[in-house]
Amino acid sequence: MTQHPRAEIDQVAEASIAALRAPSILNTQPWRWRLAGNHAELWADRSRQLDGLDADGRLLLISCGTALHHVTVALLAAGIAADITRLPDPARPDLVARIRQGQPCPADSTLYRAIYQRRTDRRPFGDARPADAVVDELRAAAERHGVHLHVVRDDQVTAFASAVAHAGEVERDDPRFRDDLLAWTTRTRGERDGVSPRSTVGPTPRTIAPRDFNIARPAALDPGSGSDRGTLYTILTVDDEEPADWVAAGEALSDVWLTLTDRGLAASPISEVVEVAAVRVALRRLLGGVGHPAIAMRIGTPVDGTEPVPASIRRSGTDTIGLPGQP
Ligand SMILES: Cc1cc2nc3c(=O)[nH]c(=O)nc-3n(C[C@H](O)[C@H](O)[C@H](O)COP(=O)(O)O)c2cc1C
Repeated sequence: MTQHPRAEIDQVAEASIAALRAPSILNTQPWRWRLAGNHAELWADRSRQLDGLDADGRLLLISCGTALHHVTVALLAAGIAADITRLPDPARPDLVARIRQGQPCPADSTLYRAIYQRRTDRRPFGDARPADAVVDELRAAAERHGVHLHVVRDDQVTAFASAVAHAGEVERDDPRFRDDLLAWTTRTRGERDGVSPRSTVGPTPRTIAPRDFNIARPAALDPGSGSDRGTLYTILTVDDEEPADWVAAGEALSDVWLTLTDRGLAASPISEVVEVAAVRVALRRLLGGVGHPAIAMRIGTPVDGTEPVPASIRRSGTDTIGLPGQP
């Protein structure tokens, strides 16, 4: 029996609502969904691109990739395999993907549940190191998208820490970077985007400090008693530097992050190391020149008994999802 396009679009529409929870650079949510006929289109919203932090739009495409993966996870929970064409139209480079319902498949809502539990957790993590078996699963999650997960070795952590610190200094001294941070940490509640002080932590002794978001408003999240002693620093790398690679890196970031959330771990991305070109080059050298760093991420075990980080805000479906017949 052929399915009515209306029912198809309802499933994809529902999945695109779940995808609003996807993580994005500075919570810019730089995407727009268009439901059309029997498929959905994911578009990059260039009006939300960051001029300083992301002049070439790679973090924007990584963010769109996380939304794309979230949609596939939501469809899978409904027992539907997603049929995706990535960057289908060279004449329309902002069309990131076209998604159709593929074959019915066994429903699996493991990662779907994680969509609603996942947070960016910038607090220091506990002493327990993530188990090797789980790290292997995370590696496999990245590889599903042709992306590689490199775990920074203990003897590389000092070099990695100085790369992060150097990127932070460059960004603090550059008004274009500061303007982006200022703009997206002082959004009004009605705009339903940006990074809130409720999810950022102030300075605390640790090997690698998260990005300093608190240039306008002080951090409001208690850093807790973690030491970061068991924290793993990881780098997702891609084989090339084309738009398709950044989309794949975003899909991998989402897959890795939802998988680790399901396994009781927590994480926060570190993208300043790829935002500053010279630091990106240094990072590549640290990786032995193999692959191109797409984004780094700290992964660890939450300290026992700590409260979950509050959920960050999102725009509504009305603002981000165009129904058939709408622009
Ligand atoms: C491409 C990308 C880059 C990011 N870079 C950073 C970063 O450098 N530092 C950080 O603390 N969070 C970073 N984040 C996390 C976002 O700030 C976060 O996803 C967003 O504020 C929404 O919050 P949530 O993840 O808790 O839902 C990044 C996320 C993405 C997708």
